[in-house]
Amino acid sequence: MSADAPQPRRVALSTLTTLKVGGEAEVWTVDDEAELRAATAEDYYVLGGGSNLLVGDEALYARVVRLGPSFATPGALGNGVDVWLGAATRVPGLVRRAAHAGLSGLEGLLGVPAQLGGAVVMNAGTRFGCLADTLQEVELMVEGRVERLPADALGLGYRHSRLPAGAVVMRARLRLTPSTTARVQSLMAEVDAARKGQPKVKSAGCAFKNPPGDSAGRLIDAAGCKGLRVGDAMVSVEHANFVVNLGNASTSDVLALLSAVRERVGERLELEWRRWGLPGGDQPHTGWKRTPEAADERSQRGE
Ligand code: FAD
Ligand code: EPU
Repeated sequence: MSADAPQPRRVALSTLTTLKVGGEAEVWTVDDEAELRAATAEDYYVLGGGSNLLVGDEALYARVVRLGPSFATPGALGNGVDVWLGAATRVPGLVRRAAHAGLSGLEGLLGVPAQLGGAVVMNAGTRFGCLADTLQEVELMVEGRVERLPADALGLGYRHSRLPAGAVVMRARLRLTPSTTARVQSLMAEVDAARKGQPKVKSAGCAFKNPPGDSAGRLIDAAGCKGLRVGDAMVSVEHANFVVNLGNASTSDVLALLSAVRERVGERLELEWRRWGLPGGDQPHTGWKRTPEAADERSQRGE
């Protein structure tokens, strides 16, 4: 760890997620590879912008690793034909900067409040385009080692990727297409128009993936769920696939609401949200110190 490394802090994850629910965790904000390596030695989750996450009300037993500002690339995009960007770069600013530079390829991500790393993992996007359209390569930390993988090795699909277990995306290489600001902005206006019906209050985006050939929002709406409420968690009256937090919702409220929606829709809906500290949710990644390889090495050294 660098001498001035911030200490892990206990933080309520409700302050780091866009739905504003979730219990406490030990949060490690890392500013370089050495810190990231140290932080991932023990079991961990990786947090991006927290915009696709539902975290349990109870404290998490695994630590939460966040990439600090030095993993963000806020500056100019160069010619954009091939550009490496830090995984903590905020997608909304990136989309704006690309438009300003007359670079096309990211318009479909307009309105996605992600960090670049989270957008890679979820292959975020809209029907106008997704991150896979521009992604060429990623730089990862896997079990304490830095590795590069081409985008076509990541199994990118609809809101889906298959990264190596425990991989932390540190940087991503995008290929943007030279265009003009006016053309890029006119595509962005189309995307913006398609998002007009979405709520602007606290949410985590769409709760459920669209089933093949249909829309979860349409199904939930048709089942009469708009305005359905448990505590301060409510099915948005604007777009039925959004759960909004009216103020003081808890994760238990949100879970009870999701069950009620599933019961009414009467058809299998797959959650888009990642879940931590909840039954059926993601398990923390194994810290590299606890991998079988590390244990073998330790036993060979007689430790
Ligand atoms: P998080 O929510 O923090 O994490 C999501 C997953 O990625 C977790 O498994 C986490 O462990 C992993 N992760 C995050 N960063 C890294 C990293 N650096 N390395 C390894 N793993 C990492 N999504 C869409 O696709 N299209 C939309 O139109 C859309 N609209 C939205 C609108 C609103 C208002 C909101 C709140 C959300 C919306 N979303 C949308 C959902 C969300 O923004 C995306 O899923 C986004 O990709 C999540 O990125 P994040 O950085 O917030 O990741
Ligand atoms: N619809 C309703 N009622 C509703 C909501 C939608 O009847 O309450 C109908 C619409 O009228 C339309 C259809 O369902 O006929 C599709 O709706 P929309 O165009 O809003 O798209 P969506 O499929 O609900 C998807 C993504 C969004 C993305 C938009 C814009 C998923 C699960 N959702 O929504 O992504 O922003 O398209 O392209 O794929 C997200 O993933 O978090 C997300 C917000």
